[in-house]
Amino acid sequence: MRRGSIIQIAAIALVAGAITTAAATLIPWLPVAAGEEATRIHFVYWFATIISIVVFSVVIAVLIFTVWKFRADPDDDSDGPPIHGHTKLEIVWTAIPTAIVTSIAIVSAVVLAQNSRAGSDPLNVKVTAEQFAWTFTYPNGKTYGSLTVPKGRHTRLDITSKDVIHSFWVPQLSQKQDALPGAHNFIVITPTRTGTFPVVCTELCGVGHALMRSHITIVEPAKFDAWLKSGGQAAAGPPGLAVFQQNGCGSCHTLASAHATGKIGPDLDNLQAEAAKANRGPLQAFIKESIETPQAYIAPGFSDVMPHIFGQQIPTDKLDQLVQYLAAGSKSA
Ligand code: CUA
Repeated sequence: MRRGSIIQIAAIALVAGAITTAAATLIPWLPVAAGEEATRIHFVYWFATIISIVVFSVVIAVLIFTVWKFRADPDDDSDGPPIHGHTKLEIVWTAIPTAIVTSIAIVSAVVLAQNSRAGSDPLNVKVTAEQFAWTFTYPNGKTYGSLTVPKGRHTRLDITSKDVIHSFWVPQLSQKQDALPGAHNFIVITPTRTGTFPVVCTELCGVGHALMRSHITIVEPAKFDAWLKSGGQAAAGPPGLAVFQQNGCGSCHTLASAHATGKIGPDLDNLQAEAAKANRGPLQAFIKESIETPQAYIAPGFSDVMPHIFGQQIPTDKLDQLVQYLAAGSKSA
């Protein structure tokens, strides 16, 4: 009889375990890991998930078995027997959770320690957050609106903020780190696959929070060296195109000649029509004003989310190149 009960409970536990395992593995809950640190963090997730599946299956099996076998009659309102003082049982149900929690703590601590190792020769990049944009400054002093890093090398990000609290997150790299005004936080990333992935602000930082995005491009080391040497210039095209790309304009704006398809801000292929609608002077002056003080005129249907930083961030000569490029590229209405 007892043996039969244990077999029945085990059978229910196996079914519950199979269903939960299917839900955990068949649905891609986690983004693909694009770095060594992310791979380790995913390991911690799976370690805790497997333990959870086992605990859940045993608990649900005992629960179902109890409801099934020990159901009281509908008119039985008496209290159940008082159960107290089963020392062996109490030791077991204290020891098992202690062992589980301790093992998860140890695995997490090891992963945290490994993930903070930057090696002897990391690439150092300063990450600056401000309402509502990211900028990335390289050891050669150049600053870009998106992050480019080599595959296979440790990159140490020095993260800070100019105004409020933001938080740096690349889902495929798993780690999140707050960007605090007046303080510097660090994370180490060691990319394992090439590609372009989103950089997301994951701390509510104001009206443009949801739009505070950039991207990280992971390239082969040789390509990265060439990129860094060339100053991150676009290989060909008008100088204004390079300024457009360096400042990440394409993540928010559409511009056919730059192959940009952003939808957050106005479509820059329609600048001439926009300028006519805005009625704020000649086209080039309107474009310049819209970059330096975007809050001065906000196109209908949009809100004040464009960073107010480009006036200071882009040197005057580069700004002129960008204005000329945008003015030349715009179609007439
Ligand atoms: Cu910056 Cu949210």
